[in-house]
Amino acid sequence: MSIITEDINASIQQFIATQKYDGAIIITDENTKIYCRPIIESLDIPIHDICIPVGEEKKSVQTLVSVWEQMEQIGASRHSLMLCLGGGVVSDLGGMAAACYKRGIDCVNIPTTLLSMIDASAGGKTGVNFLGLKNEIGLIRQPKAIFLYLPYLKTLPQAEMRSGYAEMLKHALLTNRKVLALHLLYNWAEPDLRALNPLIEESLRVKGEIVSQDPHDHGPRKALNLGHTFGHAFEEYFLQKSAPLPHGYCVAWGLVAALYASAIVTGLQTDVLHQVAHYIFELYGRPEILCRDYDALYKLMEHDKKSTGQEVRFVLLEDVGRPQIDVVLEKNCIFEALDFLREG
Ligand code: GLY
Repeated sequence: MSIITEDINASIQQFIATQKYDGAIIITDENTKIYCRPIIESLDIPIHDICIPVGEEKKSVQTLVSVWEQMEQIGASRHSLMLCLGGGVVSDLGGMAAACYKRGIDCVNIPTTLLSMIDASAGGKTGVNFLGLKNEIGLIRQPKAIFLYLPYLKTLPQAEMRSGYAEMLKHALLTNRKVLALHLLYNWAEPDLRALNPLIEESLRVKGEIVSQDPHDHGPRKALNLGHTFGHAFEEYFLQKSAPLPHGYCVAWGLVAALYASAIVTGLQTDVLHQVAHYIFELYGRPEILCRDYDALYKLMEHDKKSTGQEVRFVLLEDVGRPQIDVVLEKNCIFEALDFLREG
């Protein structure tokens, strides 16, 4: 369960005092090494630093291997602790490095972006991208602790904050209309971190509740993939074109597409679709896709981990807070949803 802390050093020290680690590895990327690492003080155990390159395209098997090589050089043991200080790339890759090293060492996540605070750091999903496919290789292993230090958010560019907010919108769509309405009122033209805090707490509660019902992602947790079959296809498509887009932007567009399909297939009331679509188009714009991109996007959806054979599966909503998982959509419905995204 994620803990919001006002004193990140005290939280880490207290956690370490209850364990018997022989050393800690702090894994950062080139940005968090500069902006976030200096805040972490020395610990009662030796610390080694590993820094990975920035960017989703570096969330690769190659980077993972280089982390394992460095862990060997450092002399990390089965009793070492991995502290992942960064966004989703750091916690996904660092978490996987820890989960496999000597068959698994403990890991603590200290997410530094809104996206990773809300989503990637919690729930134990780790992994790397492979052959252009998102999180194709990975495993689920829960971190020992997750510490959220909200002042780290002050170091983030607006686009990063907005990216994280897409996952909060997803959680709100999985909660109820009241919570959704509060999220749709948040004014990104004048963002106020204090007003965001209660929404962050609510979002963490929702994610925690869903993961605790189904930690291994066989049932109710699949609802957290709302918007992600479309979203991952956008993300992979733009990554392959060497024009990577923030995950949250792709998820936000994926949410609109999923709500459009929900209005057709699972009876979602169209007022929800239009309110959410309006908010998302204002905040994230629209994806730069043309009709001629649809087949390539569809192929990427077929590769999605939720899909089986030729069937592409989606999470849709019957209503806010009432997801239906594993819904198979016809190709023409998927293409109509893409049309709506472009000009609906
Ligand atoms: N990001 C979706 C999940 O944790 O299941």
